[in-house]
Amino acid sequence: MLFSPIRVGQVMLESRTWVPAMVPWRATEDGFVTRHVLDWYSRFAEGRPGALVVEATGVRDIPSGPLLRIGHDRFIPGLREMVETVHRSSGGRTRFFIQIIDFLTVRRRPEKEKYFARFLSIEDRHRQKLFEATNDERWLVADETEIRSFLTSAPDEIHDRVLNENEQESLRFGYRERVTDTHLRNISELPEVLPEIFATAAGRAKEAGFDGVELHYAHAYTMASFLSATNTRTDGYGGSRENRVRLPLEVYRAVRNRVGNDYTVGVRFLGDEVITGGNRIEDAVWFGVELARAGFDFLSISKGGKFDDARQPKVGQAVYPYTGRSGFECMPPVTSDERGPFGRNIPLAAAIKRAVNEAGFLTPVVTSGGIGTFELAEQTLERGEADIIAMARGSLADPDWFLKVSSGRGDEVRRCNYTNYCEGLDQMHKQVTCKLWDRVNLDEPGITKSDDGKRRLIAPQWMREYETNEKD
Ligand SMILES: Cc1cc2nc3c(=O)[nH]c(=O)nc-3n(C[C@H](O)[C@H](O)[C@H](O)COP(=O)(O)O)c2cc1C
Ligand code: SF4
Repeated sequence: MLFSPIRVGQVMLESRTWVPAMVPWRATEDGFVTRHVLDWYSRFAEGRPGALVVEATGVRDIPSGPLLRIGHDRFIPGLREMVETVHRSSGGRTRFFIQIIDFLTVRRRPEKEKYFARFLSIEDRHRQKLFEATNDERWLVADETEIRSFLTSAPDEIHDRVLNENEQESLRFGYRERVTDTHLRNISELPEVLPEIFATAAGRAKEAGFDGVELHYAHAYTMASFLSATNTRTDGYGGSRENRVRLPLEVYRAVRNRVGNDYTVGVRFLGDEVITGGNRIEDAVWFGVELARAGFDFLSISKGGKFDDARQPKVGQAVYPYTGRSGFECMPPVTSDERGPFGRNIPLAAAIKRAVNEAGFLTPVVTSGGIGTFELAEQTLERGEADIIAMARGSLADPDWFLKVSSGRGDEVRRCNYTNYCEGLDQMHKQVTCKLWDRVNLDEPGITKSDDGKRRLIAPQWMREYETNEKD
């Protein structure tokens, strides 16, 4: 089944194999496609997965470091070159989608001195709390400089009593916007602006020649936060499930209107948010049916990956949503628990698929998370738990996995061991590579290396050997 074709919206996949979005940190500082980006996708395409999804690509025209962007027409030529490269490298056999994302502001954890000197805005409630914490009336009329200086050298217990929850978080983790910060204009107006921003971005994806677009409604980002049970907005876009799915559906309709019915539009969302008070599978099943009913062409299910339970970053670093329990569930490592990473998220996809099918929709469901062997992939399809198998780290470890297994040479696969070296690089915003091959044949002529010259950026070639054997 794994190597049998399947229709996804307007396109046919040659097989039910899929490389989901993975950020490799290879774009320019202002979001353009580079030679390294082209090489990265070309290498995956050589392995001929049924579908390959481009990393989360920003829908806005705002600085966001070396992450790909699609928020302006000037990005189209680079993206088009990417499409041409992938179609060429896969011999036209891999369908190429792009994941598009909106995210809110996340700042680095500040130095304590800087936070109290510059970032905290002092209000009368701080004076009142200081008085309550110290029993000293002078604080009720103290001037700002005095308060800032006291708080800078005060112990954590005083900060706990004087600062509100958001301020404590800004001090200890770095400032982070939430979809519930509706006192901020840019947040309250998200429902007005996002449909158009996503629609224009999707229009550009179509213009650049992608076979389809995947709306990123998963992990720690804006659209997932609207779907989340933690979304308590009171403007009709939070609270009940009906309200939480409202903007995600409005964004979908705007996208659909822009790209037309003859274009593939899918979605990635969470089968479980994992965090306390977040969505569970019951919510995800309900959303899955609504997203299918709206007309999405595929549902790609992920898990966790939230800021809410992330580890405290070091001073000067930003909080990373894959460091807490929800992060472990998103990219499960061998050390996660006794169950290990293998196929641990399949039950989520299975429950969503069952409900979607029972509601009368045949929308293909993509599952991911620790699926690294043919047996597990094939069993999952045979049992009807999903329609398509996504493999992120497995294909990073060996981009030729699909080609090797489909041609009966599975014993040549370089198997991912799920110890998350690649994820560690992502966390440090370093060019992502795999530890199983990034130090191999470093003196090979013509290879590209990481900025520090210590790692090769692309997995060694296997294709030439394969083609020679194919001719034989
Ligand atoms: C380096 C790295 C970057 C990732 N970037 C993205 C991303 O941009 N968008 C996304 O939806 N998932 C992203 N993921 C998550 C993967 O798509 C996938 O869901 C996860 O790794 C679990 O699948 P696996 O066990 O096959 O690796 C990333 C994973 C890794 C390892
Ligand atoms: S670095 Fe480790 S976890 Fe990542 S793809 Fe390679 S083997 Fe797998």
